[in-house]
Amino acid sequence: MIKVIFVCLGNICRSPMGEAVFRNIICEEGLNEKILVDSAGTSDWHIGEKPHEGTLKILEKHNISAAGMKARQYTQADLDKFDYIIAMDQSNVENMSGIQGTESNKVIKLLDLLEDEANKDVPDPFFTGDFDETYRLVIAGCEQLLKRIKQENNL
Ligand code: 4NP
Repeated sequence: MIKVIFVCLGNICRSPMGEAVFRNIICEEGLNEKILVDSAGTSDWHIGEKPHEGTLKILEKHNISAAGMKARQYTQADLDKFDYIIAMDQSNVENMSGIQGTESNKVIKLLDLLEDEANKDVPDPFFTGDFDETYRLVIAGCEQLLKRIKQENNL
């Protein structure tokens, strides 16, 4: 099983969007037995909460399930467990290094996978209110991520 986790600050806006979008792509490709997807936040601010209303709305609009999702905090154990640790922005990378006590080459910023995208940080719709823009970037990043995982794992 290849294990992928999306990480943001609160685990209610961007990383649950990444988790749901990526799981949806994987199911469409018939890879759900091969790839496990999860998400977490570096903060403990929203533990146990369902995704933000804006994230739920945009997922519903695109017919993507968010069933059963609940926010949790990223832990040091996640560094061992997961093969691909996908950060939404640079502060997530730095916050994870703090939690882990080390940097790791498993950590990838989602938008570093998009060559044509100048901005390498997924904007936080908790502050921008623009869930459409975030969704557009998340889906583009997830498509590239799957390409990379397929290449690196001969899928
Ligand atoms: P997320 O967005 O990291 O994409 O889940 C945020 C959610 C909540 C807060 C900040 C960012 N907050 O300050 O509570």
